Amino acid sequence: MAQQQDSWIPPDIDTDTPSGARTYDYLLGGSHNFAADRHAAEAAERIMPGIAQVARLNRAFLGRVVRFMIDQGIRQFLDLGSGMPTVGNVHQIADRAHPGCRVVYVDRDPIAVAHSELMLAANDHAAIVHADVQYPEDIFASSPACRLINLDEPVGVLMLALLHWIPDEADPGAVVADYRRRVPVGSYLAISHLTSDQQTDQITSAVGMFNRAKGTDQATPRPYSQVEAMFGDFELVEPGLVGCGHWRPAGTGDITDDPETNRQIYGGVGRKVHPNQ
Ligand SMILES: C[S@@+](CC[C@H](N)C(=O)[O-])C[C@H]1O[C@@H](n2cnc3c(N)ncnc32)[C@H](O)[C@@H]1O
Repeated sequence: MAQQQDSWIPPDIDTDTPSGARTYDYLLGGSHNFAADRHAAEAAERIMPGIAQVARLNRAFLGRVVRFMIDQGIRQFLDLGSGMPTVGNVHQIADRAHPGCRVVYVDRDPIAVAHSELMLAANDHAAIVHADVQYPEDIFASSPACRLINLDEPVGVLMLALLHWIPDEADPGAVVADYRRRVPVGSYLAISHLTSDQQTDQITSAVGMFNRAKGTDQATPRPYSQVEAMFGDFELVEPGLVGCGHWRPAGTGDITDDPETNRQIYGGVGRKVHPNQ
């Protein structure tokens, strides 16, 4: 068992502090997490029952978004803050819908990157970049992006459950704007973002508990208007920015009976229609 774990645990990892990637993995039922991550997830679930369901709704939203973009003709994806490989990774969803799609994953969590590298070792169409999404120039200059992303063709840019990990001081709106400018007309941008617009007390205490652990990942839930502004002038496709459970639900697991759970993470998809957007 220890040997199995060694293959995905890089050296010098702080396993005593929860990480966003591993806590989310645990909430989704994954196995790439440590006691600190499980304690953080369980404490969050005690403060805010249903948070694991919120994570699952976000993951289901990701699947619908990728299939939607493929239906619109997108064949290459930049998945920013891709997280731990788990059920329904972008390259797997894309491959099922349209074999040959290209995917560049980006994450800063060393374990998410190590595990993704193992999963993608024999894959010519998908690769991961170990980087901070706050530096788009480095990401576009990386060898996986140069090999797999053609900026003469529309790109599907995914920022799912990512931007609430970027603090206000780092200006997440400006980070998103940089990606919007770099991709060509016809590209799509998907965002999902944790909010404190509902269940405010619970989400504030759950996030406060996580942030007090003082790991690299510090969460900032944001109100609707701030998340909507991140799309800039991109045209939001129907139904706009909504609780992610309400974004084109298509089957079991996409939406729940609980209205607050459906809206705890906002989700939307925008399209670039003019070159200067
Ligand atoms: C909750 S997971 C989301 C995974 C996936 N996008 C999804 O929605 O299912 C968020 C991921 O974003 C990554 N992340 C957070 N801030 C980042 C940053 N500045 N640069 C790169 N990755 C980041 C974390 O390491 C984590 O793996």
